[in-house]
Amino acid sequence: MSVRVSIVGASGYAGGELLRLLLDHPEVEVGQVTSERHAGKYVHTVHPNLRGRTRLTFAPSAQLEPCEVLCLCLPHGAAQERIDAFAALAERIVDLSADFRLRDPARYARWYGEEHRAPAWLERFVYGLPETRREELRGARYVSGVGCNATASTLALLPLVRAGLLDPDLPVVVDLKVGSSEGGNKSSAASHHPERSGVVRTFAPTSHRHTAEIEQELGLTNVHLTVTSVEAVRGALATVHAWTREVVAEKDLWRAYRGVAKDEPFLRIVKDRTGIHRFPEPKLLAGSNYADVGFALEPEARRVVSLCAIDNLVKGAAGSAVQCLNLMLGWEETLGLGFPGLHPI
Ligand SMILES: NC(=O)c1ccc[n+]([C@@H]2O[C@H](COP(=O)([O-])OP(=O)(O)OC[C@H]3O[C@@H](n4cnc5c(N)ncnc54)[C@H](OP(=O)(O)O)[C@@H]3O)[C@@H](O)[C@H]2O)c1
Repeated sequence: MSVRVSIVGASGYAGGELLRLLLDHPEVEVGQVTSERHAGKYVHTVHPNLRGRTRLTFAPSAQLEPCEVLCLCLPHGAAQERIDAFAALAERIVDLSADFRLRDPARYARWYGEEHRAPAWLERFVYGLPETRREELRGARYVSGVGCNATASTLALLPLVRAGLLDPDLPVVVDLKVGSSEGGNKSSAASHHPERSGVVRTFAPTSHRHTAEIEQELGLTNVHLTVTSVEAVRGALATVHAWTREVVAEKDLWRAYRGVAKDEPFLRIVKDRTGIHRFPEPKLLAGSNYADVGFALEPEARRVVSLCAIDNLVKGAAGSAVQCLNLMLGWEETLGLGFPGLHPI
């Protein structure tokens, strides 16, 4: 018996990617897919890669019917406004937006500049990153999505935090390079092709909202992000600059990174001495749920550069959501997520 999953906001980039993954999931039957703008149209008119893979048409969200799992892929703020109505339709919810990622309403208000409209729901959601919340995700009913930049940053930092290597008195600086699909499918002046093409444009030098998620998941208070748009459609690369509390050797870092990666089906260490692909690269991960992590060390300076590459729409959104769904329903965690990416691309 398949589990019936419906997707709200399925015409968007995250929703489309989730649909692509769920159509190939052996335990899932996709129920309804919603879009207001494209109601009545075949899915492939918006997601041309899905032509011939489904005969589904978009329905308006007012016509949503009960299902077992509802995945919400709406812009920020839309899920919290209607969470009671969504919860009445489905036993389980996965919300990919930022609405339910933070547990503390005060932290939400600080980072999002407004009061949360359904604060009682915050503590009912589990943050949807299996690498930090696996046990809570097993059997969970309400799961949030993850921020794409937060995911790359958190996974780059996780080995250093778990091994207790960071100097607590020094900041952690994360430089992120990101592709254009992070902005969703609505065009803006910044996404207009002549303005976006070829850019190296820092749009968030300080105070990026995903800082809150990273600090929440890692128990840190000194994380500082800078985010720069680069010439790519998919992909995010987090370059963490961090300092260790003591002088460490490279073998200590190997132990820390292997200690985390050995139990993680989608974390791979990329650190080779030779060749051109010595460190993580987002381009190779397009369409894949892998997060590639790597590092380099300046021992005397106690400086570690830790890298994590992901596809923002997969490990940074829809893929992590499917990984969570697998945990929520007690399935093999990797189901439906086998695609390794492409090379060359
Ligand atoms: N893009 C990423 O890399 C990424 C990564 C992680 C998380 N996320 C999160 O995922 C969510 C979706 O992002 P996206 O990039 O897929 O955005 P998007 O491409 O702009 O898609 C948004 C979807 O929501 C629908 N929608 C828009 N306004 C709505 C409203 N007021 N009520 C109901 N439906 C509405 C749109 O469809 P119609 O207008 O056709 O109804 C569209 O299908 C966001 O919350 C984002 O933060 C995105």
